[in-house]
Amino acid sequence: MATLRSKLKKISPWPIHYLYRKIYYFPKDFSEACKFIFHKTKTPTTFWQRKMLVWKFYRISYLVDCPHTEHEMIHIARAMLDLGDIPGALVECGAFHGGSTAKFSLVAKLAKREFHVFDSFEGMPENKEAGGESIYGREHHFPKGSHAVRIDEVRENVEKYGDISRTKFHKGFFSETLPDFKEPVALACMNVDLALSTKDCLKYLSPLMSKDGIIYSQDAHFPWIIELLKDDRFWQNEIGILKPKMDDLGKLKFVAIHY
Ligand SMILES: C[S@@+](CC[C@H](N)C(=O)[O-])C[C@H]1O[C@@H](n2cnc3c(N)ncnc32)[C@H](O)[C@@H]1O
Repeated sequence: MATLRSKLKKISPWPIHYLYRKIYYFPKDFSEACKFIFHKTKTPTTFWQRKMLVWKFYRISYLVDCPHTEHEMIHIARAMLDLGDIPGALVECGAFHGGSTAKFSLVAKLAKREFHVFDSFEGMPENKEAGGESIYGREHHFPKGSHAVRIDEVRENVEKYGDISRTKFHKGFFSETLPDFKEPVALACMNVDLALSTKDCLKYLSPLMSKDGIIYSQDAHFPWIIELLKDDRFWQNEIGILKPKMDDLGKLKFVAIHY
């Protein structure tokens, strides 16, 4: 199935590929969208706002190259809107073309929270990670400079399709930008592909997390990330805390790390 998808992506025009993705993920996307639209969130939102948000997510995925699924984004959007009175900002590490950034910026507006976006905007850092097969059987490799998208393009996508008013960009490798960031964080998303980058994010974000805050890894389909997140010694020696509670590690593309 993975090979069929990669072949289809190469030969088919974008509208066909988009349709294929939406049909392929329909059961998961539809059930997550219904749960989101028909249930109230702790931060008050109307049925119409939730419905429009889902519609805008689909529109953004059509207009911007997005390497995530709709159910993943809707699930995280719900978590952002269910933070209630947990203090702190929303954070995204890893923007790529800004599809997820535009989506989260719309959620930040509804949640009335600041939204901080961290990326090198030059792609992956220098690394020696071999990559390999995800739990879904597709090959992935992340050499230096891959996934590079200019900050101007990302900003433009957020201006056009999201809400720039609460969005602040931090350009540079995480190891350079995150140490200077000192604000409390209620929810952060890491979609950064490498174990090295995940380590940097966890090292600098963990001390900023509010009680009951959440960090999502959207790379939990990569064995090298699963291994890292499962490792008690990593949490104790490098982050300085006991391993936090995580839901369904190793089963889905994304996992919630509870603080
Ligand atoms: C998979 S893409 C993000 C996808 C995006 N969240 C989406 O769903 O559209 C990974 C991003 O992480 C960034 N990245 C990875 N490691 C990084 C690091 N150490 N410092 C800064 N940016 C990094 C890359 O530049 C790239 O934009």
